[in-house]
Amino acid sequence: MRDLLVKQRPALVLAPMQNVTDLPFMRVCARRGGPDWFVTEFIRIHSVAKLDPYILRSITENSTGKPVFAQIIGSDTESMVRAARELENYPIAGVDLNLGCPSPTVCGKSAGGGLLRQPAEIDRMVGELRQAIRGRFTIKTRLGYHDPAEFSQLLEVFRKHSIDGLTIHARTVMDRYLTPVRPDGIRMAVETLSCPVIANGNVVNASAGKNFIDRTKAHGLMIGRGAIRNPWIFDQIRAHYEGTSSVQPRAVDLLEYIEDLYHELARESYDFDAVKHVQRMKKTMMYIAQGLGEDFEYQLRRVSQEAEFFVLCRAHLNHQTPLIDIPPEKSKLFCGFQELLDQENITP
Ligand SMILES: Cc1cc2nc3c(=O)[nH]c(=O)nc-3n(C[C@H](O)[C@H](O)[C@H](O)COP(=O)(O)O)c2cc1C
Repeated sequence: MRDLLVKQRPALVLAPMQNVTDLPFMRVCARRGGPDWFVTEFIRIHSVAKLDPYILRSITENSTGKPVFAQIIGSDTESMVRAARELENYPIAGVDLNLGCPSPTVCGKSAGGGLLRQPAEIDRMVGELRQAIRGRFTIKTRLGYHDPAEFSQLLEVFRKHSIDGLTIHARTVMDRYLTPVRPDGIRMAVETLSCPVIANGNVVNASAGKNFIDRTKAHGLMIGRGAIRNPWIFDQIRAHYEGTSSVQPRAVDLLEYIEDLYHELARESYDFDAVKHVQRMKKTMMYIAQGLGEDFEYQLRRVSQEAEFFVLCRAHLNHQTPLIDIPPEKSKLFCGFQELLDQENITP
C-alpha cells in the first residue's frame, strides 16, 4: 500500500459503510473531490454463498478513477481464502480483512470484531490469507475486544504476517461508537509495523484530521460518517495540507449533493419504488441532517412521498448560508469528537 501514499499529506480513504458506500455513493463522493481510494462495504463470506453481486459492481463499474479495495468478513478461513482468490480476478486494489465490526450478530459468529477475542484464530486466518493473496492484503481492526491492552498481541500477529497496510478504528469493540477515540494505540502501531497505518474514527472536519495525524503520526486518515455529512471533507483536508483555499460548502451545495445521491441511487436500483426509495434515502439523510435543525430532522422522519422529500429539502436548504463544519456535540450519530479538536491534547 506504500505505493498508494501521497507525499506532503496523509492519504485519504472513504471508510467502508454497509448500505451507504456503494457504487452510487462512491460516484457522488468522487464528484466532490473524493478520497484517494475506496474500500467496499463488507462482503459476507460463507461456505456456500457467492460474492454479493451488488457490492461487486462497486468494483467492476468503478468509474471514479480511484482504486477500490474489496473488504471481506467471515469466520471460516478456507472460505475466506477461496473468496480472496476469486476477488483477485476483479480489478481490485487489494483485499481488506474486516476485524472491527461490533454488531452482536457478526461478533456472535466469531467474525469481524468478534475474532479479536481469538488471537490464535486471527493468526491462522491472516497467515493463510497472506499466503493466498498475490496483491495487496490489508486489515481494518479495532484496538481489541474488551480492552486496548489486547492490542500489542494483535500487532505482533499483523507484523509476523507482513500485511501491506493496517487501518485502525481507535476504539475497542465494547466502546462501539460512543467514546472518544484512543490515538495512543495507533501511534504504537506506527512505531511497531513497517507497513502504512491509517487512523480512523471521529474525523468530523479538517482540524480533527490534522490533530489525529499529529497525535498518531499515521500515514493516512479513513473517514466515514464525517464524509456522509460533508463529502467535501477530503478536499478540505487536502487544501489544509497544501495551504490552498478550502471549499466552503453552502446549504445549496448540500441540497445538490442530496439530489445527486437520490437520483444516482434511483438509477442503480433494481426495482425502483419511490416510497421505498425515500425510506432508503432517509437512513443516509440522518447523518446529513445532524446540525441542520431539530425541525428539519423531525419533519424528515415523517416524510414518505418523493415530492414531500424534495419540498422539505428545498425549503430548508435552498439558500447560500455556509454550512457549519462540525456536527452538534453529543448528537445521536456523532459524539466524543471534541477531544480530537482540542489542540492541547497534541504531544510532539
Ligand atoms: C452505517 C455504518 C456502516 C458501517 N459498515 C462498515 C463496513 O461494512 N465495514 C467496516 O469495516 N466498517 C464499517 N463501519 C465502520 C466505519 O468504517 C468506521 O470504522 C467507523 O464509522 C468510524 O469512523 P468514522 O468516525 O469516520 O465514522 C460502518 C459504520 C457505519 C456508521
